[in-house]
Amino acid sequence: MRRILIINGPNLNLLGKREPSTYGNIAFEDYLDTLRRRYPDIQTTYFQSNTEGALIDKIQQAGFEVDGIILNAGAYTHTSVALQDAIRAIPAPVIEVHISNVHAREAYRHTSMIAAACRGVICGFGMDSYRLAVEALLDI
Ligand code: DQA
Repeated sequence: MRRILIINGPNLNLLGKREPSTYGNIAFEDYLDTLRRRYPDIQTTYFQSNTEGALIDKIQQAGFEVDGIILNAGAYTHTSVALQDAIRAIPAPVIEVHISNVHAREAYRHTSMIAAACRGVICGFGMDSYRLAVEALLDI
């Protein structure tokens, strides 16, 4: 596991400013610096988009190049069959990640359209969910 891509979906560009009581007050770029320092041997790239098609394009392209993908699809998690199909189409293992514990929130967040296509799901550990996903990928 040498190359890991982290993909964040809609509204996650606002981490640090968006609903801090739910998502914390750290910008993702700052968290990414910490993660990269912790895993200096892993090439960790990052992509964020608010657009479903751009997320699918990235999964299709990177899914044949990187060794693993950590995906926080944001609200598209709960709606997107197209993202599920994209995950199924690529060889790289994908870990679904959420900052909040979606199962302790509104009922519409309890369903994931992508989980069945992912290797596993990590949620509810704040930003640390991403590090736990790195650890999971390192064991695959
Ligand atoms: C989220 C949970 C989703 O339900 C929500 O739409 C998000 C963020 C999380 O990381 O907790 O945008 O994926």
